[in-house]
This record gives sequence, structure tokens and C-alpha cells, in this order.
Amino acid sequence: MRIESERILFEDVPATAIAECYGTPTYVYEENRIRTNFRRALAAFRNDYPNFRFFYAVKACNNPAIAHILRQEGAGIDAASVNEIRLAAEIGLGGEDVMFSGNFLSDDDIRQGLQSGVIFNLDDISLLPRVLAHGRPDLICFRVNPGYGKSNVGEYVTNAGPKAKFGLHPDQVIEAYRLARDAGISRFGAHMMPGSCITDSEYFGFITGLLMDIIGKAVRELGIRFEFIDLGGGLGIPYRPDESPLDIEAAASRVAAVFKEKVREYGLEPPRLMMEPARYFVGDAGYIVGRVHAIKDGYARIIGTDVGMNVLARPAMYGAYHHIYVDGREGEPRASMGLCGQVCENTDYWVRDRPLPMGTTVGDLVVVENAGAYGYTMSYQYNGRLRPAEVLVNGERHMLIRERETFEDMVRGAHVPDYLRE
Ligand SMILES: Cc1ncc(COP(=O)(O)O)c(C=O)c1O
Repeated sequence: MRIESERILFEDVPATAIAECYGTPTYVYEENRIRTNFRRALAAFRNDYPNFRFFYAVKACNNPAIAHILRQEGAGIDAASVNEIRLAAEIGLGGEDVMFSGNFLSDDDIRQGLQSGVIFNLDDISLLPRVLAHGRPDLICFRVNPGYGKSNVGEYVTNAGPKAKFGLHPDQVIEAYRLARDAGISRFGAHMMPGSCITDSEYFGFITGLLMDIIGKAVRELGIRFEFIDLGGGLGIPYRPDESPLDIEAAASRVAAVFKEKVREYGLEPPRLMMEPARYFVGDAGYIVGRVHAIKDGYARIIGTDVGMNVLARPAMYGAYHHIYVDGREGEPRASMGLCGQVCENTDYWVRDRPLPMGTTVGDLVVVENAGAYGYTMSYQYNGRLRPAEVLVNGERHMLIRERETFEDMVRGAHVPDYLRE
């Protein structure tokens, strides 16, 4: 996104053109930004460890067009559910190009996961016998909770450590791989996902060391070989204007240095190194274009927009910050005010006391930044406020990649027993 003569543009498409063609609220993604983000990260990690691959955690933004962009760049898919495995298949990825990192799986999830031939990343030791009851995969991966996690929004998305629901306790790791080996499984991977949106490059080296120590001990004890180590996601982006971006090259160097040192220390045959980020690729490439519909002056000035908590859940869910621009007014003097959506919940009053342009008025367009990850995929229909459209821009081109929901979508699948109609 850029601002030219006060007007907001996504690549070369003005925000006004998006609003005119597709209405508001609408999610907009910049294709070239996604590709640039991916290429920069891949170059950084491959520079330090050539045998490196990214899997894209499609939960962050599951629009098939976006997933295709990342597939074209060479990413595999990290799937959280059977439906995400199906989405990967829709874009032509299956087998070992897909990592199935579900948690608390049902038997049906296990059956369908096995049928699809993807890599099983088991979140608990108790899952192994359940998987084996349905079939024996060649390759198995366990998600390890190395006892430490971190996030930019507190405990909400701290995915490891004693308070997290994810992953095996380090004390269970040797037993888990022993059971797998003794069951005749011969190929192994290891995974962790301890942090979310981390912009401190040192952190990535630190967690690599934690996992490698756990894995190194398993190798010594069991004599197995690890084909790959997956360090999860967590590559952060700055959300607040005063935050510094992650130094991705420094993060990659730290990871590679620790990884190589641990490979030496434990005498491992060097495994493939993987990560499965999402936010770093798509987070800052996505925006929401919304419109101001009403302004209330009471206890405070509140700008009422159509970007509610149902459109962007993160602020109401995690207290997350998202920067907001007002088209045509960024150069104006500012005053502290609030901003909300149209949903009947006070958590929908998701901006309090923010310096916004004083002249902001009904009909103006607002643009919410950093909405590409965990934006549309977390949207919902509460209050009959339906999910927005999604649009991809590339240079001067803009393309609808998901239609705005309609009333028919809201009632699809509902059934009313006849007697209730009397
Ligand atoms: C298992 C797993 N892998 C990868 C990711 C992607 O994380 P991020 O967007 O922070 O890179 C997530 C996000 O929740 C996840 O749960």
C-alpha cells in the first residue's frame, strides 16, 4: 500500500476503485507483496541452509488464489484440518507436500488424513495407537512442546509452554518415537510451534536449540534418523507504527548456526530444515477497505464503520492492534477518537483513543492494515453482518477472488421442521 497525493493505493489500484467495484468491507491482497515477502524469507533461510523449505500455514488466509501464489513460489501446505488437506488438493498439493498439524483429532480426521497420504504431525503420544489402528504411515512427525513459548499478544497465542494445549511434553518424546519405531515406522520428523508474531531474531535461534536438544537425546537413545525438523511459524511483522520489523536474515542465520552446531553435537545426519509460517508472507500484504457510515459524539467521538469484529476478529479476540488510515485525510490534523463496527457487542468498539484525522466524515473510506493473516479466515456472520468480499491486486489489475456473502449464504443448510411453520 502507498499514499499518493493523500489517496491510498494497493499496488496501482486506488482504494476508491475497490470500494466502487466491490463495495465495503472488502479484503484486498497485494500479490507482489506476497511474492516479495516469500522470496526474501526463502533467500534468507536458503542462504544459510540450502536444504530448506517453507510450508504455508493455510489457516492464516485460505483463499485458494492466495494459496496458489505460495504454491507457485514453491511452498508446501501446513493443514490444520481435513478440509485444509482438501484445499491443498484443490491447488494441486498432496502427499509429502502437505503437513497435517491438527490437534485433538477425531477418528474420522485420522482416517481421512491417512487416506490422503499427507505427513502426520501428531500433537500427542495418545494419537499414535489411534493412527496405527487405521493404518501405518511410513513417516511420522511429532509436535513437541519444548516448554517455552512467546507471542506479541500475551498468552492468547503462546502455543507452547506449560499453559499451552499443544504438543508433547519433552519427557514423552523418546517414548513416542520408540513406540513409532517399534511399530515399524521408519521415517521421522520433528516439529514445534512455540511462538507467534515474533520480531526478535534471537528468539528463533533459542527455540531451535530447545528442540534440537530434545531431538538429539531421542537420536542417542533410539538410534533413529530424523529426515526433517520443522520449526513451525512465528516469523513476526510489526503491527504498531513504532515497532521494528523482524531482521529475517539475522533470524535465519541464528537458526542455521544453532542447527548446524546441534547437528554436530549430536552427530546427526543433517536433516532437512523446514518452517511453516504464514503471517510473514501474507500479513502485511492484506488490508480491509471499509466505509464510515455514522459518527457519534457522546462520551467520546466514535467513528462507525462497516469493519466490525465479525470482519476482523483479532482486536476483540486478542486485544490486537491494527493501524487505520483514512483515505484522503492522512495529512490532516488529528484528534483522539474511537472507531467501531456495526455489531451489537461492545468489544466491537475496537479502537479507543486513537489519533485519527479530525475531518473524518460519513462516506470516507478507512483502510485497516496488516489484515492479510488471520483476517478473513477468522471472520463470521454474527448479527447477520456477512463475510466480506476478497480481491487480489497485481499492478493496475484487480480481481475478485471471493464473493461477498449474501443472505442465501447465511441461511444455507438450515432446516425448519414443518410443525414450526404452523
Ligand atoms: C501449527 C502451526 N503452524 C504454523 C502456523 C503459522 O504461524 P504464523 O502465522 O505465526 O507464522 C500456525 C499458526 O497458528 C500453527 O498453528
